Amino acid sequence: RLSGVEMAPPDPILGVSEAFKRSSDPNKLNLGVGAYRTEELQPLVLDVVKKAEAKMLAAGYNKEYLPIEGLDSFRKATVDLLLGADHPAIKQDRVVCIQALSGTGALRVGAAFIGKFMPGTKVFISNPTWGNHMNIFGDERVEWAKYRYFDPETVGLDFAGMTADLEAAPDGSVVLLHGCAHNPTGVDPTPEQWKAIAELCKRKGHLPFFDVAYQGFATGDLDKDAFAPRLFVDSGLEVVVAQSYSKNLGLYGERVGALNLVLADAESAKRVLSQLKRIARALWSNPPTHGARIAAEVVGDPAMFEEWKGEMAGMAGRIAKVRGELRAALEARCPEKDWSFVTKQIGMFSYTGMSPKQVDNMTNKHAVFMTRDGRISLAGLSSAKVAALADGIVDSVRN
Ligand code: LMR
Repeated sequence: RLSGVEMAPPDPILGVSEAFKRSSDPNKLNLGVGAYRTEELQPLVLDVVKKAEAKMLAAGYNKEYLPIEGLDSFRKATVDLLLGADHPAIKQDRVVCIQALSGTGALRVGAAFIGKFMPGTKVFISNPTWGNHMNIFGDERVEWAKYRYFDPETVGLDFAGMTADLEAAPDGSVVLLHGCAHNPTGVDPTPEQWKAIAELCKRKGHLPFFDVAYQGFATGDLDKDAFAPRLFVDSGLEVVVAQSYSKNLGLYGERVGALNLVLADAESAKRVLSQLKRIARALWSNPPTHGARIAAEVVGDPAMFEEWKGEMAGMAGRIAKVRGELRAALEARCPEKDWSFVTKQIGMFSYTGMSPKQVDNMTNKHAVFMTRDGRISLAGLSSAKVAALADGIVDSVRN
């Protein structure tokens, strides 16, 4: 019966990691997936995570099921991180948080909720965006369309195109926004542009749905990186936010995240949470404990929290350093081209503008593994590899 099942295409991002593993080239470099590496190109477990785990082991936690909505201390920590601990919406009991399997799981619960309770509503997604957004809404049979976002001419934000498309969207649409450090472009709206987008959403009755996967990775500061969702909440909008601890706490494989909704009042918050629990129950029943405990320990302990911020700034700083080095190396090799975009873009990635053919040259000739949209993860680059990468890029864009 199943012999007719067709082969699925490799995932545009995780498929690159699979191809990297298969390569026997000794100089191979994986700049595909957005996962932080040390200067030695090794994965990093934060010291603060090790400390939290040691504390947890000593406390002798059991392996009982968590409630469907997740670990209470984790949910509190997560909302505090997102809105700031003293936010009035928290005191008014109108913030809902459900633990989820990282950003993807949070988005998926959100997509299922939209499909169930906002039938017929279209979700507007930036062009380009993280490849999995389309899978997530598509698999929940939620209709989606793209809004203009990136302008290749300026290598910046196409703000006029973006607002025109959101203006033309049916009233009451869902607008998917990247909270900070847009993936894959590394191009974010300015504070003034965010204000205009919030006003547009208000006027049109759009529901903003933030994907916050890089809080702390854009500026190195957790509060500054929460500027956009906080602004939208403070302007009186109802807001949905998917959060991930994969990058900022380095908990990738632990799948730690949450879906938050800031609603108009406490009564609707209660009802919405009950429905989110109903959705999660059928997806994963109840969420995993280990990573959530780590996050709760770190955020809930003032000393560990400070230490975490230091480690996060260290990761963001190393990425900023290789950004600068890469730009300088490219300028030295190819001065006729403007490479300033490399240091203007923020977060983990650089969106190089390379075509699929040029990307193939990067991989086949230079053993640089990257996504075919021309994105490179600078979190996977070391200073030692900058020269080789710059050689590969210049060779690829010139040919
Ligand atoms: C990425 O964009 O590389 C990361 O968000 C990892 C992933 O799951 O795709």
